[in-house]
Amino acid sequence: MANPSLLILPGDGIGPEVMAEVRKVIDWFGSQGTPFDVSEDLVGGAAYDAHGTPLTDATMAKAQEVDAVLLGAVGGPKYDDLDFSVKPERGLLRLRKEMDLFANLRPAQCFDALADFSSLKKDVVAGLDIMIVRELTSGVYFGEPRGIVTENNERVGINTQRYTESEIERVARSAFELARKRGNKLCSMEKANVMESGILWREVVQRVGDEEYPDVELSHMYADAGAMQLTRWPKQFDVIVTDNLFGDLLSDLAAMLTGSLGMLPSASLGLPMANGRPKAMYEPVHGSAPDIAGQGKANPIACILSFAMALRYSFDMGEAADRVEAAVEKVLADGLRTADLLGEEGRAPVSTSDMGDAIVAALAD
Ligand code: NAI
Ligand code: MG
Repeated sequence: MANPSLLILPGDGIGPEVMAEVRKVIDWFGSQGTPFDVSEDLVGGAAYDAHGTPLTDATMAKAQEVDAVLLGAVGGPKYDDLDFSVKPERGLLRLRKEMDLFANLRPAQCFDALADFSSLKKDVVAGLDIMIVRELTSGVYFGEPRGIVTENNERVGINTQRYTESEIERVARSAFELARKRGNKLCSMEKANVMESGILWREVVQRVGDEEYPDVELSHMYADAGAMQLTRWPKQFDVIVTDNLFGDLLSDLAAMLTGSLGMLPSASLGLPMANGRPKAMYEPVHGSAPDIAGQGKANPIACILSFAMALRYSFDMGEAADRVEAAVEKVLADGLRTADLLGEEGRAPVSTSDMGDAIVAALAD
């Protein structure tokens, strides 16, 4: 079988710095007999500087061909005054749109060594490992009609929540598939009590579960109750699936239970390709962090954990993913901290590259 193929798009700011550490991890797997076919290209401001566009057609075509795309971050003050059509973010949006990445996976995973870092009590978050699946390409952010109109001499702001059955079905399937790879438990969140789109959502998710995933334990919760439960006792959940708007809020809420932006990975998945793997892009949640770029201060863990997600969800290499996560756990337990993980503590931080080296050393243990 062909080696798994990866397109790496480091992007701007700390993107290339954290991606250099991911390359060390990928190279380590290569040295152990698990090689990846890696190609690298430009995106965002870096692509604009070279080609006058944040994503060339050639790069877009490559992204459609590979098994998975791994992206660093895009943007920075240098590009703030560019015309909207060539802003770095447009490169990212084009990738998401043309690959039709409708399922956004946001894990909230708490490493024991960082449990004190959470705003919640230690026993509420220690060992937490949940996944929020947010529908990413439809719902109220895209529904028509929309706009600001004048009626009866006053302005009215309008947005429309809209979901077709097939849009709900496909994101539900992604979530059920994930649940099967994890704890076999899925909770769907909407507001079926006050929204018709929520009634349809609940009905369709239930039907997909009954017909195709009877082995997965399915429950439903109103999204506001879900927000309360996520802060009260998040460990009751395994996989949560929800719409674009609720998912935007709930995934940010859940992520912050566990600490720093520098720790948070994500995946965006689309439909299965001919080889059965889903179209996929993996990226840290954070941006290009211009305030610390070029100083060796960036935490590479979010990007390294994004690669671990690629191992698990694109390549069915769950054990390899576990190994990367265990290596991260180990270096944190050993006390290594980049500056973002130190808060007010007086300890000396380690550099981006030292953190990457330590994780590779821990992989080998
Ligand atoms: P940001 O995520 O880049 O930074 C927010 C804060 O978190 C900064 O203080 C930064 O130093 C810190 N931080 C972020 N990642 C870190 C890491 N790995 N290690 C240590 N500290 C880290 O968000 P911000 O400042 O709002 O945006 C900066 C630029 O990034 C803008 O141009 C924005 O448009 C872009 N951006 C790009 C995203 C992407 O490529 N997906 C997402 C968010 C913002
Ligand atoms: Mg958000």
